[in-house]
This record gives sequence, C-alpha cells and structure tokens, in this order.
Amino acid sequence: MTSEKDPPRISNSYKAFPRQKEFHESKAKYRLFGGAAGPGKTKALLWEAIGQANEVAGCDTLLLRRTYPELESSLLSYFRRDVPRSMYESYSESKHVVTWLNGSTTRFGYCRNENDVYQYQGAEFLFIGIDELTHFTQKQWQFLTSRNRCPAEVYSNGKNARLSRRRLEHFCRAILQHLRYWAPHGAPGRHSARSLVAAMDFH
Ligand SMILES: Nc1ncnc2c1ncn2[C@@H]1O[C@H](COP(=O)(O)OP(=O)(O)OP(=O)(O)O)[C@@H](O)[C@H]1O
Ligand SMILES: [Mg+2]
Repeated sequence: MTSEKDPPRISNSYKAFPRQKEFHESKAKYRLFGGAAGPGKTKALLWEAIGQANEVAGCDTLLLRRTYPELESSLLSYFRRDVPRSMYESYSESKHVVTWLNGSTTRFGYCRNENDVYQYQGAEFLFIGIDELTHFTQKQWQFLTSRNRCPAEVYSNGKNARLSRRRLEHFCRAILQHLRYWAPHGAPGRHSARSLVAAMDFH
C-alpha cells in the first residue's frame, strides 16, 4: 500500500520493453544496446541511471551525449517529459544535475571536444551512460571508464586495477574489430547506419 508521502515508483512511469528489460537485467560491467529502429536505447539509459541513483543513496550517476543540442533533444527532453517532479528533490537547469530524494545525483553532460571529458577528472560515478557511443572517440571512452567507480569501494588495489585494465583492453579490442565506423579522430556528427548506446557500471 502506498501513502501520500511515498515517492512515486519508477514502474509507474516506465515499463521496459523486452529488449530494455534485458539491458537493465544484465550484470555485465560494460553493456551495449544497439539497434537503429528506435528500440528505446536512450530511454533505457535514462531509466537505468534513475534506477541506480535511487537504489544507492548518495551516489552520482552520469548521462552523456556528444553535443549539447543532441543532449537537449534526447536525454534531457525525455527527463523533462517523463520523470514526475515528485520523484526528485531538485533540478539545476544551469548545471543539468538532478538531485534525487535520497541525495544521489544524475548529471547530464556532453563532450563535444576531445578534451571535454577532462571536466570529469576527479569525479566518480556509480553509473555512466553514453548515448550514441559511436559519436565518441576511443580516447574519450577510455577516460570515461576511469571515472566509473563505486564510491563505496576503495579502488586502489593493484590486483583489481590490473584486472580492470585487462578487461578494458579486451573490450576495446573486441569493439573496435566489430565497429569499423567508430569515429577515429573525434569528429562529432560522423554518423553510422547503426547506433549504439553504452552503459558502464561498477560491480
Ligand atoms: N519502455 C517504453 N515505454 C514507452 N515508450 C517508450 C519506451 N521506450 C521507448 N519509448 C519511446 O519510444 C520512442 C523511441 O525511444 P528512444 O528514443 O529511447 O529510442 P532510441 O533507440 O534511442 O532511438 P534512436 O535510435 O532514434 O536514438 C520515444 O518516444 C520513447 O519515449
Ligand atoms: Mg536514442
């Protein structure tokens, strides 16, 4: 039974399609969700960030698009359209940061220039969702993976760090073999026939 004070449940606003459900339920550290015919990649990323932020109090999550106009017309407009005001404490229009009722945050950002990712230097995110990964450069991706850390864990253990690097290298080799259209030098807007969303979690 819910009372008037209970925050609205995610399931009241979002019912995942089967492929989205598969995406949400995956336990993989790196998850890729592809498909050109609008299978709900962007929406799934948004609700994954919302779900994780609301599950773990006091953590930060990040949702990215390559450019601001793209961010505005996708993730941000879905947030404004689909997420009830009663679900969050505040939203900063200037910083594009939502603070949820449990103190966790979701930041909407963009990295138009190669070096724009360094704005996240020193930050740690429980979850990073990259919408249209193929618009990002490999260097940006690699830097962003380093920001994907669980705030509850000390991440300085050498063994873990080596393991994580090895996994990352393996992943990058695999993805580069399969995605020849990856923009090699970071030119935004280089479009591909297929699109790809990526999500990274710390487990
Ligand atoms: N689970 C859902 N329930 C209802 N509507 C949904 C759901 N998932 C997506 N949609 C709607 O379907 C449309 C397409 O979704 P979305 O933009 O997330 O797809 P996409 O895969 O990112 O598309 P594109 O390849 O164009 O970027 C949007 O209007 C979105 O609100
Ligand atoms: Mg999309």
